[in-house]
Amino acid sequence: MPTGFSSLLDFKSLSLPQIEKIFSLAHSLNESPLKPRLNGESLGLVFMENSTRTRLSFERAAHRAGVGTLLFEVGQKTSMEKGESIEDSIFNIASMKPAMMIIRCGPSVDLQAVAQQIQIPILNAGWGVSSHPTQALLDLFTLKSKWGKVAGKKLLILGDVKHSRVAASHLELSQIYGYELGQCGPQDYLHESSQFQRFASLHKGLSWCDAVMALRFQFERHVSSPQVFSKQDYAAQFGLSTLSMNHLAKNAPLLHPGPVNYGVEIEQIVTRDPRSCILEQVANGVVIREALIRLVLGETP
Ligand code: NCD
Repeated sequence: MPTGFSSLLDFKSLSLPQIEKIFSLAHSLNESPLKPRLNGESLGLVFMENSTRTRLSFERAAHRAGVGTLLFEVGQKTSMEKGESIEDSIFNIASMKPAMMIIRCGPSVDLQAVAQQIQIPILNAGWGVSSHPTQALLDLFTLKSKWGKVAGKKLLILGDVKHSRVAASHLELSQIYGYELGQCGPQDYLHESSQFQRFASLHKGLSWCDAVMALRFQFERHVSSPQVFSKQDYAAQFGLSTLSMNHLAKNAPLLHPGPVNYGVEIEQIVTRDPRSCILEQVANGVVIREALIRLVLGETP
């Protein structure tokens, strides 16, 4: 591939200049659309977990790029109901020769091994608790548009950081871009990495950071039975309210990867705060994914 872009499973395979290329193409796609390719190429979309933003934005990105889609998702009447495995389903879709596969799946699938076997680029659309690189890219793209220079800036992540594949991808991406990470949430749900500075109080964390990201409690990814606390207790201690937002700097962006549970991690009214970039993240998700698709297909920006 002339552009050097191939599978994106995590950030180990991507250099800073390559990420800058993605950002620069996404930026120009935001300014004005590029010609659709219309070369008869298609993407295989395999979504084994529920998704709204990620799946639809990949579909939207494919349409904008002029690339067709083959959608295989949970809940469809597929041969998995007859006992076919997820891996075998992927191998069969790969045999139809899509130009790349976009895959969201649980931890039981070895995406590295699948990528080697199918010899078609795979873009990871959320893999267990381990990674969600396109989400981290669209987050950073959004932050960059507010921050300008990224190195030395501070991002605070709130809540169930331990089970967040978005946070895990920021752990990798922050090492490439040199931004600092902080975390605040219930003790049992914090990430073990010392790269995350821990804040016992939300107010202290909010005063420290240059941007805050709230997370949903990802109960479906918990392996042991979760600590019991009420939504009200959580909201009172770690929720973003009009009151707690007073501790966040005036120009510090508020992010959330979605889906948002209003009244738990964020009061609904806070999404109308001018610092909220939640829907901007969704819009940026389309151009980031379109840029990636075009680059993997060999387009030179
Ligand atoms: C996240 C995910 O699926 O990991 N959402 C997303 O892709 N936009 C976060 C979540 O599930 O809470």
